[in-house]
Amino acid sequence: ALIVRHRMRSSGRWARAMAILREFEDKCGTPIGKLRQVADAMTVEMHAGLASEGGSKLKMLISYVDNLPTGDERGLFYALDLGGTNFRVLRVQLGGKEGRVAKQEFTEVSIPPNLMVGTSDELFDYIATELAKFVATEGEGFHLSPGRQRELGFTFSFPVKQSSINSGTLMTWTKGFSIADAVSPFYAAFVILLMISIGQDVVMELTKAMERKGLDMRVAALVNDTIGTLAGGRYFNNDVVAAVILGTGTNAAYVERAQAIPKWHGLVQSEEMVINMEWGNFRSSHLPITEYDQALDADSLNPGDHIFEKIISGMYLGDIVRRVLCRMAEEAAFFGDTVPAKLKIPFILRTPEMSAMHHDSSPDLKVVGNKLKDILGITNTSLKTRKVVVELCNIVAMRGARLGAAGIMGILKKIGRDTVKEGDKQKTVIAMDGGLFEHYSEFSKALESTLQELLGEEVSSRIVIEHANDGSGIGAALLAASHSQYNDIEES
Ligand code: GLC
Repeated sequence: ALIVRHRMRSSGRWARAMAILREFEDKCGTPIGKLRQVADAMTVEMHAGLASEGGSKLKMLISYVDNLPTGDERGLFYALDLGGTNFRVLRVQLGGKEGRVAKQEFTEVSIPPNLMVGTSDELFDYIATELAKFVATEGEGFHLSPGRQRELGFTFSFPVKQSSINSGTLMTWTKGFSIADAVSPFYAAFVILLMISIGQDVVMELTKAMERKGLDMRVAALVNDTIGTLAGGRYFNNDVVAAVILGTGTNAAYVERAQAIPKWHGLVQSEEMVINMEWGNFRSSHLPITEYDQALDADSLNPGDHIFEKIISGMYLGDIVRRVLCRMAEEAAFFGDTVPAKLKIPFILRTPEMSAMHHDSSPDLKVVGNKLKDILGITNTSLKTRKVVVELCNIVAMRGARLGAAGIMGILKKIGRDTVKEGDKQKTVIAMDGGLFEHYSEFSKALESTLQELLGEEVSSRIVIEHANDGSGIGAALLAASHSQYNDIEES
């Protein structure tokens, strides 16, 4: 009788766990009709964000990039990419149309932990010192024209309100968690960056630090990573009109007609302007949001903001999985009588680990078993349990990927590339970058096939998604070149 009771109890648990899973799956649903609504809403918000400052949740930031690289860029240029716990510095020797990127070198530097509790001056001093060290190793193949100052493109992957191509202030922090949550090196990234305060002009801070460190270098361009990726993509392929980042965060940039930007009262000298959408902040009643997403949002550094990003990007996907597993453990004893303690730690399950579980092709799901053991301390899981974990990863990843495709569809609609016009053979290329897109193949596959589904066969044969491997570094250097202080002199 005891055994029977136990069996009943455990089958009841299983049923309860499955009910939690199915309910979540239901709420995450992204049928094609819903995706079309999301795409339409994206287009509508794009219009609103371009119409007036604050007209939409989509900031649609003016990048002051009105000329993308042409291939004619020449000379030696530097780039600095400040992302998280690491920053990258790079130099390229550009040789014009014939020479292209004649030579490039880069180095990656991690920010030492003692700086994580420091001031923004200390952070920029450190960056300037490392940059100076890198400059000192400039050797053969790199050549600065006599009498010139070195110039740098600065990639800063956060929302910045720019007042020119090389000045701008931080608007808000995104992709972050509060310092109290900073229990693993992963969050350290955000702690470091938190040293920079909202409203600070990041170019000025960097420039002052370079002066303090005796480094003679000028910041010629300040760019978002999406803008850098777009510029790098265009340099190699003339048909690139938009860039999308799917990494820790997510965002998109594209080339807009100056005429279509009512809020821009700048001198409309050029016909085009690159827009940093900050699409992570997109929000719509059509988005499938669950209670787990709401809880994640409430615990975040920027509650209420960047809702699109929080259901799509690499910073969050693993934690959504963790939250659902935690509920299944608490309410359905999914992992046995006690709730595994580690399951309660925010962000302990990172998206790369989720991806590894999702891609496990071994018959007994060994990778899943090992990850559950190593990361969450859950031992002896049955194959049945592991299968459920994989299914959960799939639900979360598919929702994100399909919504990402809907976002791209929204951009294509806005720029009129969602249909084919008679006799038009024009290709439309979207430069993509970011770890999520690059490494989570189930995610990228789903994104691409969903976009095809949305576009239909005829149009989708004209749309190409191109992986711009680290185009953002080169892109920033190229933009430094096209905004060099010496350009006007040469032209006149
Ligand atoms: C976040 C930032 C945005 C950046 C994106 C990808 O959404 O707000 O500026 O482009 O992450 O790194």
